Formats: sequence, C-alpha cells, structure tokens
Amino acid sequence: MADSRAIGIFDSGLGGLTVAKEIMKLLPNENIVYFGDTGRVPYGTRSAATIQKYASEDERFLLSKDVKLIVAACGTVSSVAANTAKDLPVPFIEVISHSVDAAVKNTKNNKIGILATAATIRSGAHKRMIMERLPGAQVVESSGTLLVPLVEEGWTDKEDSVVLQTVQRYVEEMKRVGVDTVIMGCTHFPVLAEAISEVMGQDVFLVNMGVATANAVRRLLEETDALNEGLSHADHKFFVSDRTAAFESTASVLLGEKIDNFIVEQVDINKL
Ligand code: DGL
Repeated sequence: MADSRAIGIFDSGLGGLTVAKEIMKLLPNENIVYFGDTGRVPYGTRSAATIQKYASEDERFLLSKDVKLIVAACGTVSSVAANTAKDLPVPFIEVISHSVDAAVKNTKNNKIGILATAATIRSGAHKRMIMERLPGAQVVESSGTLLVPLVEEGWTDKEDSVVLQTVQRYVEEMKRVGVDTVIMGCTHFPVLAEAISEVMGQDVFLVNMGVATANAVRRLLEETDALNEGLSHADHKFFVSDRTAAFESTASVLLGEKIDNFIVEQVDINKL
C-alpha cells in the first residue's frame, strides 16, 4: 500500500537541511515537511532536559502536519532526546545509529573519530554504539563547537585559513591517533567535508550522516510498503520558528540550492 503522506524532518535549525537534501536526492517522489527551530537554535550547547522538551514540541508540530515518518535530522536531538520518540504514532529515524553502522563497516584499523556538538559528545551515544558493534575499537571524540557558527556564517571554503585552522584544532587528537574514519556527527559538518579532508588527509573516510540516514529512510519505507508511488510531483514545505536576517544565505549553504525556490512559512510552535 503506497503512502503519499509526507516525510517529516526536523532539526534545531537549518543544519538538518543537509539531511533533507540527501533524502530529497535519494527519494525524489517523496513529499517533505521540514521544521527548523531557528528561533531556539542552537540545541548543542543546552542541557538534556531542555533539548528533550524542544524535541517533543518539534515532533508534535510535525504530527500536526500528518506525516508518515519522523526524522530527527539533528545529531544533538538524536543522541540526547531519542527517548521523546518512544510513544510516537509513526516510525522515527535518528541520525546516530546509521552513521555508526557506516563507520563500523568502513574502518580497517578500528580507529574512529567523532566530530559533533558538545551535547552529543557528552551523551557518548556514538561511542556506546560503536563499542557494541566493534568491541576493542578506539574512539576519539571531539566537540567542534565553533564549526557550527562558522558554517552559519558561510565560511566553509577549504582554502580559507580560518576554516582550516579551526578544523585543525578540533581534529588534532584524531590525527595523532591515526583514525581512518570520521563521523561528521553534526548536521552542519558535511558542508565542511572538503576542509576536513584537507586537514585529515584524503584517505580518511568521512561519514555523512545525511547519506546514511537517507538510506535508512528508504529501507524503512520499502519494508513497510510506504513509499509514495503516486505520479504527482513531490511537494516540499519548509517551516521555521524564526526568519532571521541570514536565513536565506545560511539555508542555501546547507541545502546546496536556493531556499527561495521553495515556500517557507514561519510558525509559532507553542500555538498548536
Ligand atoms: N543541528 C545540531 C546538530 O546536529 C547542530 C546545531 C545545534 O547545536 O543546534 O547537532
């Protein structure tokens, strides 16, 4: 039975567009409802209790849009607030476990780096899952806090010395240990992939959680016979809790195409 309802995707802000982009690429027939909590971003520096409260509200918003599946396209929510999804009436996909699977599958020397927000690193979610799948692995964790505003500012060029030096500071230990795989565990980091590769070396494999998650979404929809098989053109709707001045430029950096190609609506999440 095909299901034409939309896939619901949410993030603390616009970073989740890197995940939405991969889902849109892999599943071009799927309708998408994206919610970015731009009024309350960042989540990555907040306490677990606050992140859980925000995540529940974001999920409730997407449910009000009658989605068939919810994707937490946010490393921080996935690692700290996945428990908020246990009573959801629709399936839930987070971004950590699929990235971990991809990393474990790829590593040859069992040395894996995790680059994510402070809250994600504090949760230890990636490390725990890696050790379950690959006992004896060596995991090097680093919270790349300053990389988030760097991306929001559009500073992503691999030739920019500020970008390279900032990345260098966060991956020093991973380089010293000689990891062969790095999980980019924060939504913003795929747009820094070239700069990270420049610093880490081209032979270090970078796990893009958007790609890993898009594959998981497709598997789930196939298994549950819930792909949108209608011939209608896919419809994408974007909602944000604040339309900041830098919205268009930041969103376009993360989505990889102009957000003004789409309709974007501002909503008050507390007025549902
Ligand atoms: N979306 C967040 C993540 O993937 C990064 C931005 C934030 O701190 O809210 O962890």
